[in-house]
Amino acid sequence: RRQKRDRLLALLERTAAYYVRVLWESPEAEDARAYLQSRGLQEGALRAFRVGFAPDTWDRVVLGSRRAGYGEGELVAAGLASRSSRGTLIDRFRGRITFPLADERGRVLGFGARAMKPDDKPKYLNTSENDLFHKGRIVYGADLARAAAAKAGRVVLVEGYTDVIALHQAGVPEVVAQMGTALTDAQVDAIARLAPKALFCQDPDRAGQESVAKGIASLRTHNKGRSTRAVEFKIVRLPLGEDPADVVQKSGADEMRALLEKAIPIERFEVERALEQRDASTDEMLAAVKPIIASMRPTILRDQLVELIANKFSMTSNMVNELLQAPAT
Ligand code: CTP
Ligand code: MN
Ligand code: MN
Ligand code: MN
Ligand code: MN
Repeated sequence: RRQKRDRLLALLERTAAYYVRVLWESPEAEDARAYLQSRGLQEGALRAFRVGFAPDTWDRVVLGSRRAGYGEGELVAAGLASRSSRGTLIDRFRGRITFPLADERGRVLGFGARAMKPDDKPKYLNTSENDLFHKGRIVYGADLARAAAAKAGRVVLVEGYTDVIALHQAGVPEVVAQMGTALTDAQVDAIARLAPKALFCQDPDRAGQESVAKGIASLRTHNKGRSTRAVEFKIVRLPLGEDPADVVQKSGADEMRALLEKAIPIERFEVERALEQRDASTDEMLAAVKPIIASMRPTILRDQLVELIANKFSMTSNMVNELLQAPAT
């Protein structure tokens, strides 16, 4: 069993190395190189993350791996190939930029693969769940972030592959991604192992803000657990329409790092979010902020948030305090 697993790991490792060679050495990856360059991603950072290119052919990985002694079953088990309707084995990743997905020790377990053209769907194709690869158990970049996170005492959590690479390149190597979907409990635990503090730096769109809200809930649950390391976390706000990779490319590394330093406490994020609800009435907004304020000790932050609410409804802070203290009706 152990031996079986080691063979799959070796197959994944050599495939990652193959994709890297194709990206930097093959004429068929010319467009991929140009694309990455147009995104402002530099060779050094791309090499550090072992970004590669899966050639646009049906079975290059299948053939190469077979020649190296791997069986068809192994190719399928590693998530690198699948059987076509005609019964032949075909590569899963074709004509895509590849991002190896490794565990905390840097062992490649799967891939994320980005399409090159906007009409190529899906934008990202990942290895499907198998015995070895569970996306929800991986925090992208954890292996590379480990030392930097320990040193910085914090970890920055972004959404995606390109965000991690852009931040790494921008001088923020303590960066990882949960890869789009909601943060899983296993990912929260992995983050807690990296550092005692986390900065949530998700996309400033609806999906990203949902992910922050859900992430806050998961982290609170985690922090209530007795045997776990608590994670103190803050929220980074980004300019409308720009994810971390976009900020680095458009405004530069300094601006991105400045935004990280301006991270806000969770309570402020939650109050601001409640006050921004477009189709909510005043009563609904007050009902939403009430439990947040009620849970806070008397701090400067609490005063500031009460003032924020007061300004929103053209009231005095005293009025807001009274309203918030009144029992729910
Ligand atoms: N993702 C995924 N599958 C998809 C879409 C997204 O796994 N079909 C994950 C990937 O890890 C991706 C992350 O979610 O890196 C963020 O997705 P998104 O914000 O949609 O990516 P963009 O910023 O739009 O694209 P790019 O990576 O090119 O910057
Ligand atoms: Mn997104
Ligand atoms: Mn936990
Ligand atoms: Mn994004
Ligand atoms: Mn992006």
